[in-house]
Amino acid sequence: MNIKLIATAGFLLFLTACMSTSAPQGADASAWTNYKAWYKANPEPNTGDPTGFLGNVHEGLNAYRDIFVNSTGEPTNRGTGGFPYPPGSIIVKESFSNLAAYEEQRSPDLTIMLKLERGDSPETNDWEYIMGAAGNNRGTGTSGLATFCHGCHTNAANTDYSFINSAFYQNQ
Ligand code: HEC
Repeated sequence: MNIKLIATAGFLLFLTACMSTSAPQGADASAWTNYKAWYKANPEPNTGDPTGFLGNVHEGLNAYRDIFVNSTGEPTNRGTGGFPYPPGSIIVKESFSNLAAYEEQRSPDLTIMLKLERGDSPETNDWEYIMGAAGNNRGTGTSGLATFCHGCHTNAANTDYSFINSAFYQNQ
């Protein structure tokens, strides 16, 4: 096990120890295995803190991050379909701990947002928040994980709780 894996495993353990998760409501991991072929929301990898809301999450300021949106959510992200994202939209975010890891495309952390049917999780505006490619750690409703993720994503409330989209780049 390399340091990165240990750190990631430690972080997941830490999160799952102090944050309650919830039973899966949206699709399983097979829905995003192909995410690399999806529309990429960011023209250049995100690094530093372009939105000003990163805190120390998503691998922090030195991380390099790419965001992919499935075909259901693509028009909304591109700005040709309005907000909110339609049910079935999936946004996958890869976080690499640094530039070298990004260039080698080495073991990114995945964090995922999945839009449920309207009314399925009112507390999170129907987003299911997911940690890890396997899709085992999920948060909806009032679970600790949902509260943690959604609490910060509330800073992007006027773009349906997702930060990175064409509107964000237009306002740069
Ligand atoms: C402290 C604030 C904060 C917390 C907590 C947080 N995020 Fe984010 N998230 C961000 C920011 C800022 C971005 C914008 C992209 C960037 O800077 O990398 C983002 C981007 C994302 C994206 C890409 C879509 C978008 O909003 O642009 C996903 C998916 C995502 N986060 C999932 C999660 C999940 C799952 C959790 C909980 C495990 C979580 N986030 C917790 C701040 C946060």
